[in-house]
Parts: sequence; C-alpha cells; structure tokens
Amino acid sequence: MSKKIVILNGSPRPNGNTAALIEQFTKGAEQNGNQVVRFDLQRMNIHGCLGCCKGGKNPSAPCVQNDDMNKIYPHYVDADLIVLASPMYYWGISGQLKIAFDRLFAVAECDANYQNPVKGCILLMAAEGDTEENFEPVRHFYHSLLKNLGWKDCGIVYAGGNMDAGAVLQKPQQLQAAFDLGQSIQ
Ligand SMILES: Cc1cc2nc3c(=O)[nH]c(=O)nc-3n(C[C@H](O)[C@H](O)[C@H](O)COP(=O)(O)O)c2cc1C
Repeated sequence: MSKKIVILNGSPRPNGNTAALIEQFTKGAEQNGNQVVRFDLQRMNIHGCLGCCKGGKNPSAPCVQNDDMNKIYPHYVDADLIVLASPMYYWGISGQLKIAFDRLFAVAECDANYQNPVKGCILLMAAEGDTEENFEPVRHFYHSLLKNLGWKDCGIVYAGGNMDAGAVLQKPQQLQAAFDLGQSIQ
C-alpha cells in the first residue's frame, strides 16, 4: 500500500548534498507509488518554539504562532512517514530542521496526554566527516528521539565525505543508497 511521506529538508543549499539525497530518495519512493511532499525549510517563514505550552486548541493550526508551519501541520498529521533530511552542523541536525521539529510539539498539545502522532521516520544526512565517530552524536540523537516519540526507524543514509555542494554526485553508492531506501517504502 502506498505511503504518505513528508520530507523536512533542513539544508539551506538548494543544490547541496542533502538536496541530491532527497532527489534520489524521492525518485525511489515515487517509483513505488508513494506520495511525497517536501518542505524546503530554509525558504519558509518558521520561527522558533516560544515554549508557551498554549497550543493545541485548533488542530488545523495548532500553534499560537501563525507562520509557515501551518503549511506543514496538515501534511504532518496525515503522513505515515517523516523524512528528516539535513546536513550535519556541529555534530547535530541543522538549526532549520530543529526549529521546525520543535514546533511539531503543538500537534502533541492537541492530545490530552500530549501523545505525538505515531510515524515511521527516515534520516538522510550529508556531512564532511566520514567516520563512525563523526556520526555517533547524530545517531544517538535520532534513536533517542524516535524511542521517546514511539516512532519506528525505517532507514538511515549517512553520506559522509561531502563538503562542497554537489560533492555527493561523485559518490554513486551514496545516491543509490538514498534511492534504494525510497524504493523500499511500501
Ligand atoms: C555550519 C556548519 C557546520 C558543520 N558541521 C559539521 C560537522 O560537525 N561535521 C561534519 O562532518 N560536517 C560538518 N559540516 C559540513 C556539512 O555537513 C557538509 O558540507 C554537508 O555536505 C552540507 O550539506 P548540504 O550540501 O546539503 O548543505 C558543517 C558545515 C557547516 C556550514
């Protein structure tokens, strides 16, 4: 059965390595009949969470802030699978992605017990470093996040060794891994 997939793209570089991974992933996923919606967070007007804990009153626009998160919320609620796509910035996800993810708390606030909707999740990450050690902090963050949300890990592509925008285009194995992961979704 086809899945609804939401990609949160945390890279600011339109022709960067994360974008190339997303393109391949999307090709694979769409070839398999899945529906993919992508949000390029850098181009959106999204503010950081205020920590007011006053959201959750209106399910279609659950946050007290009215910005471009309102374009994401309905797709997020509907989605089977969320793709976190990001360059590694200081051994973490980019600020663009973290800010958007924090704002998803407003959806949990719609539930009396602050339950997050249960999703599958995928991580696509480009980075300069290419060692196990370099990816360890992100691996830990990603798996802790999923454990606490009760989400299922549906796959990860760590594309290391890529500094310049487009460097990953010279690494067919990494592009193939992103494509194969997309195609594995059913
Ligand atoms: C602010 C900043 C911080 C970065 N921090 C790391 C890091 O901690 N580890 C690493 O391996 N690469 C780091 N990089 C390199 C990027 O992850 C790498 O260039 C990646 O391919 C960028 O993805 P993009 O082309 O999608 O923007 C950093 C780059 C920038 C601009």
